[in-house]
Amino acid sequence: VGQNLIKLSAVDSTNNYLKNLTSNSEPLPEGTVIMAEHQFAGRGQLGNVWHAEPGKNLTFSLLLRPSFIAIEQQFVLNMLVSVALNDVLLKYLPDGLTVKWPNDIYLNDKKIGGVLIENLIVGRLIKQSIIGIGLNINQLVFEGELKDRTVSIAQILQQDVNLMALLAEICTQIEQLYLKLRAGRGTNLRDLYVSRLYRLNKIARYNHNGQVFEGKIEGISETGLLRIKPIDSATVEFGFKEVAFI
Ligand code: BTN
Repeated sequence: VGQNLIKLSAVDSTNNYLKNLTSNSEPLPEGTVIMAEHQFAGRGQLGNVWHAEPGKNLTFSLLLRPSFIAIEQQFVLNMLVSVALNDVLLKYLPDGLTVKWPNDIYLNDKKIGGVLIENLIVGRLIKQSIIGIGLNINQLVFEGELKDRTVSIAQILQQDVNLMALLAEICTQIEQLYLKLRAGRGTNLRDLYVSRLYRLNKIARYNHNGQVFEGKIEGISETGLLRIKPIDSATVEFGFKEVAFI
């Protein structure tokens, strides 16, 4: 991962750019990475916009062809990427890092990064996966509503981090976990992922269709649904759009 690296100064979205490349030309090598100094239409999950100050952060997308993964198992990619990002960031930020289900990277109660995975399914298999990663690294000021909910590495460390070095570490870590998974040795990925979940086993508030309730995250289902045990009823499994953290 990252051997074939294409660095752009500005692009709408690295996910879009990579998707276009895969449909246009010669087959791209698996592991190709597109990174951009500036995204002017960066995309987040649920149709959100991803904001990042140009030149200060990591915004990149990588290409995998995990055709050994069936559609029912696709959450394994979310787990793999979240765990890899956590592993690498732990070296910089030893305390307070978690993964907010499904794949936001959190530092205490603030978001430090996000992942947008776009899979191409053929038959029942994942023919192609475009994994977009945005991490707040050297940006010191966040505007508007992001201000209280977002954090960067440099805000904590009080010094800049080398973006290319960090990118290389992330690519290496993703590749290691990916090769293990492909060789059928990805068995502890789920345990690693669950052990790092934000709010695991803590009582907190959630919103389901406008209904606010208190409960504890217990883990995830086989297919990656979030399992929450409301304090006064049995465990419920939620899909991504079905529950909001309060
Ligand atoms: C989220 O938190 O909702 C996901 C954010 C994903 C942002 C990254 S930045 C690189 C890649 N290109 C995009 O347009 N989005 C992803």
